[in-house]
Amino acid sequence: MRVFVSGASGVLGRRLVGLLAARGHEVRGLARSAEAEERVRRAGGIPVAADLFDKGSLARGAEGCEVLIHAATSIPQKRRPSLADFALNDRIRRDGTRALLECAQIIGARRVVFQSIVWAARPADGAPFDENSPPGPDPVAQSALDGERMIAEAGFSTLRCGWFYGPDASTRGLADALRRRRLRVIGGAAKLSFLHLDDAAAAFALAAEQAGPGLWHVVDDEPASSADFFRALADRIGAPPPRTVPKWLARLGASRMSVDFLCTPMVTTAAKFRRDFRWIAKYPTYREGLDQTAAQWRQEAAQRRP
Ligand SMILES: NC(=O)c1ccc[n+]([C@@H]2O[C@H](COP(=O)([O-])OP(=O)(O)OC[C@H]3O[C@@H](n4cnc5c(N)ncnc54)[C@H](OP(=O)(O)O)[C@@H]3O)[C@@H](O)[C@H]2O)c1
Repeated sequence: MRVFVSGASGVLGRRLVGLLAARGHEVRGLARSAEAEERVRRAGGIPVAADLFDKGSLARGAEGCEVLIHAATSIPQKRRPSLADFALNDRIRRDGTRALLECAQIIGARRVVFQSIVWAARPADGAPFDENSPPGPDPVAQSALDGERMIAEAGFSTLRCGWFYGPDASTRGLADALRRRRLRVIGGAAKLSFLHLDDAAAAFALAAEQAGPGLWHVVDDEPASSADFFRALADRIGAPPPRTVPKWLARLGASRMSVDFLCTPMVTTAAKFRRDFRWIAKYPTYREGLDQTAAQWRQEAAQRRP
């Protein structure tokens, strides 16, 4: 099968390109720079230059592909992001999805898979939720919901993912902050649904091969608080245990948005995805996933030693 991946040079996209190629598919990965081209090539894909917001350019890059996967994002990396900082990410989710759907029509692709986020449906009262729950009020998630709506109207599929972690995700930044004693645990942090990036990639590979129209949550088996996650990460890398601060104090150091993200429960399940795709998380909880993450870092450090 020929598959086109937007976001192919990103943390999820690189894994997905590698996995699809290993399963015998020809993978074209959207690349916007020489570095991105190199990352796609190293992952086992064929880099293609295209403009995510231009259906004609996408159709030329994805010509002959039966499946299109939209895994591009641009999450602001600022310490205190405002809603305005999400403008490009919103455009990727709205205009990028629209252009990819138009491209699918031009080239006759039979499947489009959209990467969304489970917190798009997280209710304000913190109750557990699933694919049937109404959309949540989080303003940052509205563009993801708009992308999902376009995908559903066109008869395609969306995978909503939990909070990503893994050796080459933002987890490395968290580990550095723990080592420098700059990461605090928030007292009263809520339970969140996590997902190791390898498991996310495996889920997208299955969806690329099999998905019909629909919406699925893809998360690991055990929601956990960021406090548990940060303490477990500190333990695995030999960093001192992080200090706990109250919510009001955390808001002085980080943005209100980030603190609220960590303090609003995000408890959901991948039961539907497990049932429909016979998927089993390789890392059922953050404990196994962080064991793998830390082991990979140790291996990389050993290889760097003369
Ligand atoms: N579920 C989750 O927890 C979740 C979801 C999304 C992101 N994140 C996290 O947030 C962090 C940052 O994410 P990120 O999205 O900045 O990086 P990323 O996931 O590593 O990569 C984003 C991908 O989207 C592409 N992209 C960005 N802007 C684009 C545009 N205008 N047109 C076409 N492609 C574009 C990037 O291409 P280039 O290489 O050319 O820039 C890259 O391939 C990551 O650590 C990630 O784990 C988490």
